[in-house]
Amino acid sequence: MQPSPSILDRVGNTPMVRLSRVAAGLPVPVLGKCEFLNPGGSVKDRIALAILDDAEAKGLLRPGATLVEATAGNTGVGLALVAAARGYRLVCVLPEKMSADKRAALAAVGAEVVVVPNAAPSSPENFQNVARRLAAEHGWFPTEQFAHPANPRVHEATTGPEVLAQCGGRVGAFVCGVGTGGTITGAGRFLKARCPGVRVVLADPVGSRLAHLVDPAHPDHDAAYQVEGIGGSVMPAACDPAVIDAAERVSDDESFETTRRLIREEGLLVGGSSGTAVAAALRVAAGGCAGPVVALLADSWDRYLSRPWLRAGGAVSG
Ligand SMILES: Cc1ncc(COP(=O)(O)O)c(C=O)c1O
Repeated sequence: MQPSPSILDRVGNTPMVRLSRVAAGLPVPVLGKCEFLNPGGSVKDRIALAILDDAEAKGLLRPGATLVEATAGNTGVGLALVAAARGYRLVCVLPEKMSADKRAALAAVGAEVVVVPNAAPSSPENFQNVARRLAAEHGWFPTEQFAHPANPRVHEATTGPEVLAQCGGRVGAFVCGVGTGGTITGAGRFLKARCPGVRVVLADPVGSRLAHLVDPAHPDHDAAYQVEGIGGSVMPAACDPAVIDAAERVSDDESFETTRRLIREEGLLVGGSSGTAVAAALRVAAGGCAGPVVALLADSWDRYLSRPWLRAGGAVSG
């Protein structure tokens, strides 16, 4: 294997793993797309690279420029990898709900972290509004993951084709959550164009309104929840709900229990939203499907080591 010019050349082409124990006995295989094995530990490495490549190609970024992004943490780490390799400064605006592990990770990769209250999209304190305001006040470059067209585009160009190839050209369903909606929109569009009958399913935390916005049969319930990186009260601009066929709502308890099973029964070192996606994927598979069910394993456990739910059931003695 030839040396790569930079770690950025290792973004994408992530493995697909069969969930043989957690999905035992189901009529179709359930597979995990291991985005947590990207260099920055999450699916967001793909969009971080794509958004900055797009800005550079358009001559919008000069050496030493300052980037600013609103992030639950993962996009911040992805952007920090590109910023490190290409000499940009990075400011991340993070809602206080996000784990201390993420704040530490962002600081460790050299990002400046601005923590703001958990506020509704209409509030001036909302993390996306604060990021936009800082960009305008300081002339920083806003990477705008929640609306940037390069977001769904990179998933249509990379994640979707990888999933189809790794399933031998036949996919029954693709299941993932919505943070910005770029993954489900881009990968969903690609799979629908080439795999007739594939179902695209939203895995949404109980407390998020997105399932209701996709399918009004789901209750319109807007409340706090612990799972990080997915869900919300408004559909992000980067998300095309027309690509989504159905939604499954998953409670924090079920998400975290499934995450612990993925770690302890499959050896997959993933974060809480992977539990959300796999819990939904198990239901889809149990209901019968025209081929394998693929769940997005979006990020890594090391973002949540300080969270009690990750250690629950584990024994620490002495
Ligand atoms: C932690 C996490 N981040 C992000 C995403 C999806 O990313 P996006 O909708 O922003 O493409 C997921 C999807 O499941 C996720 O679990």
